[in-house]
Amino acid sequence: MRVAILTGGGDCPGLNAVIRAVVRKGERHYGDELVGFVDGWKGVIDGRSVPLDVAAMRGTLPKGGTVLGTSRTNPFKVEGAVERVLASLADGGIDALVAVGGEDTLGVAHRLHAEHGVALVGVPKTIDNDLSATEVTFGFNTAVQIATDAIDRLHTTAESHDRVMVVEVMGRHAGHIATYAGIAGGAAAILVPEEEFDIDEVCAALTRRHEKGRYASIVVVAEGAQPKEGSLALKDAEVDQFGHVKLGGIANVLAEEIEARTGFETRVTILGHVQRGGTPTAFDRVLSTRFGIAAIDAVHDGAFGQMVAVRADRIVRVPLADAVGELKLVDPELYHGVAEVFFG
Ligand code: F6P
Repeated sequence: MRVAILTGGGDCPGLNAVIRAVVRKGERHYGDELVGFVDGWKGVIDGRSVPLDVAAMRGTLPKGGTVLGTSRTNPFKVEGAVERVLASLADGGIDALVAVGGEDTLGVAHRLHAEHGVALVGVPKTIDNDLSATEVTFGFNTAVQIATDAIDRLHTTAESHDRVMVVEVMGRHAGHIATYAGIAGGAAAILVPEEEFDIDEVCAALTRRHEKGRYASIVVVAEGAQPKEGSLALKDAEVDQFGHVKLGGIANVLAEEIEARTGFETRVTILGHVQRGGTPTAFDRVLSTRFGIAAIDAVHDGAFGQMVAVRADRIVRVPLADAVGELKLVDPELYHGVAEVFFG
């Protein structure tokens, strides 16, 4: 078969490991010819692809990012682009496509399969870990480790100066990174999109904590955390082709408010894209490799319109429609039953 692969949406550690596994099993086991579309759906629209083989993927396992490039292009939002996608697949003689991405990329994949009969298989990717159809996505473990390492470093400087450190991590709709890194890093408060926060309560908890002694505090905030209505003014931000607001910067507003209300010196660290860069952890390399193998197997089983996923540590196939249906939010039991025990 002639099998194509693309990576779409925000990049994520582990993408190269997926591509490498698809190529390895495709070429060596199935005798496939592999090609990679560059820059996500944009490359399919423009008919830009590169040949892929085992030799080309050598040395890429520990590399962050994606050797194919990526974009947040949505063919359903660009005039005539869906027709160009179909033409490009036909012209390239592509028998099947493996689409690696998050809810946006997989949403496009789902529509191309359901509405236009494109033979494709999805692989879930997002450091945010918010896809409901899979228990875990690769990149999440790496992002949590990077955020935890950063928090560990912030502790020592916070303690030396008796300061509050507000650490902003990624997570637009769900606070998985914030919750995990916050628990692992011993945060005094964790603010997530799932639970509107009350700035009065945050400040009262920090004050109680500091009154007990000379304690520095770490506040972890997910970029998509929302204050209770009317309690803090956040500025409007730009919107992309998938309708997502460009986030980032809530920590600045929060820190100013904490300092003004409590009188504690407060500093801000916005981790931003550091969380998405660099080498994947061993866990993510293994998960990505398992996903890549499962994806090429699904192609050869004709399991189109499906996505590979993890359920009870087994790789399973689920309909792409399920992948893009519902968001997976932070388990309230983890947030309230575990993280919250250490607040204040
Ligand atoms: O969806 C993954 C993600 O890393 C989000 O956590 C974040 O809000 C967004 O991508 C950032 O996107 P960009 O790289 O386009 O700034």
